[in-house]
Amino acid sequence: MPAPAPKPEILAAFEAAKGFMPVDEGLALYAAAVEAGRLGLPLLEVGTYCGRSTILLADAAREAGVTALTVDHHRGSEEQQPGWDYHDPETVDPEIGLMDTLPTFRRTLHRAGLEDHVVALVGRSPQIAAIWNSPVGLVFVDGGHTDEHANADYEGWAPHVAEGGLLVIHDVFPHPEDEFTGQAPYRVYLRALDSGAFTEVSATGSLRVLRRTGARGVV
Ligand SMILES: C[S@@+](CC[C@H](N)C(=O)[O-])C[C@H]1O[C@@H](n2cnc3c(N)ncnc32)[C@H](O)[C@@H]1O
Repeated sequence: MPAPAPKPEILAAFEAAKGFMPVDEGLALYAAAVEAGRLGLPLLEVGTYCGRSTILLADAAREAGVTALTVDHHRGSEEQQPGWDYHDPETVDPEIGLMDTLPTFRRTLHRAGLEDHVVALVGRSPQIAAIWNSPVGLVFVDGGHTDEHANADYEGWAPHVAEGGLLVIHDVFPHPEDEFTGQAPYRVYLRALDSGAFTEVSATGSLRVLRRTGARGVV
């Protein structure tokens, strides 16, 4: 059976949105989200940025009749700050001189007609995870790339992946020469496999899809 693919208008909205995720990885994320949506639980993303990947989770959530949740403080990751390779000056709020990707994210979702299917959680990932206590069908980790942030995202959110649910990790680069923003996501991917709670389902570019095959809560 072919993998579920987004409708052309959703794919066009994804391609038009600000962000870094290539199409092949987006299609793999979408297929994972459709599959996880069958559990009837929310789909959660860490790292909203301007909503490029959120579009895909939101459309899969709409199809499944569930909600997409997306977590971000909207102040940008280390490599997105002024002076770094991934900085986009358009994301800076001129009034306060700090990055603020929330307005662009909201425009992106509005244009894609997906606002009703998304709840944006604005704040630091570990702070929100500390007060979160319900299962989710999918966790997509695409937040900060330091070991501190990537591990905190894993420890904070992976325990909430329901049995049979999916843990998706972005920017997994096994070879140091391929990495642009550090290998912390790769180390978290290895940690998830080593835990015995997750089994690899697929690899597309730097995107890894793992399934929870151990009990919920274990990481
Ligand atoms: C690589 S971008 C996400 C890209 C997005 N998923 C996409 O495909 O377009 C990473 C995002 O994580 C956010 N972020 C980094 N560390 C965070 C933290 N500790 N808490 C909340 N958000 C964080 C940044 O603000 C940034 O918007």
